Amino acid sequence: MVLPKFSLLFWLLLSFNVILLINYPTECADDEKDNLYQGINKYRASINLKALAKNENADCLADQIAEQFKNQPCTNTTGANTVPGTEPQFSNYPNLLAKCHLAISDTQDRTVMPACVPNLVPSLVLSNFTGSLYSDSLNDTKYTGIGIGSEDNWIVVVLTTNTPAGNFAPYSSNGANLISKMGLIHCSMLVLVGIVFLL
Ligand SMILES: *[C@@H]1O[C@H](CO)[C@@H](O)[C@H](O)[C@H]1NC(C)=O
Ligand SMILES: *[C@@H]1O[C@H](CO)[C@@H](O)[C@H](O)[C@H]1NC(C)=O
Ligand SMILES: *[C@@H]1O[C@H](CO)[C@@H](O)[C@H](O)[C@H]1NC(C)=O
Repeated sequence: MVLPKFSLLFWLLLSFNVILLINYPTECADDEKDNLYQGINKYRASINLKALAKNENADCLADQIAEQFKNQPCTNTTGANTVPGTEPQFSNYPNLLAKCHLAISDTQDRTVMPACVPNLVPSLVLSNFTGSLYSDSLNDTKYTGIGIGSEDNWIVVVLTTNTPAGNFAPYSSNGANLISKMGLIHCSMLVLVGIVFLL
């Protein structure tokens, strides 16, 4: 028997969770990002380069960019198949930066590398970066940080530098932190709702 009070709590939790799910859809799908992060740093180690540090603000931008790509199909002219130097241009790029509380001046030296891999198969995802012309950037000592975002079949890597023109210093750290905190709450909520549901 489910007590009425209990089921009210359940619906409250569920609706809170749905709201978060709409706003922060990728926060729990972190496995493919961790795999890629570790894979890229193993690759860097294999060619005697320093590991890239996780950069939360670059993560945020990568997520925003992946969001722009998500409805585009994978073709032989998208993702890792694009000609290097032809970075994707978005007319709303300033908005994407603003959502991550970033200024254009802190992000000039970045490299954005989108890849499209059906179902984001980890080995293919990694080789799309290490085995394509993208490796040119991965081989570059000037990059010190990395952000990764994904949506559907798209995964986006953003490389950052440790210079003021590429370090992704937020103009206010609150926004990005709030998003990651909300993500954490969201993930705990999912677990909680899952437990409640099982009871
Ligand atoms: C991409 O695929 C199309 C059709 O599948 C083919 O005609 C074209 O030559 C391919 N382009 C490259 C660069 O492989
Ligand atoms: C990149 O991923 C695609 C799948 O979308 C795969 O066919 C291709 O072989 C991969 N490229 C590299 C260089 O690994
Ligand atoms: C990056 O370095 C690796 C290992 O030295 C090399 O095989 C690869 O060709 C380099 N990538 C580019 C685009 O030069």
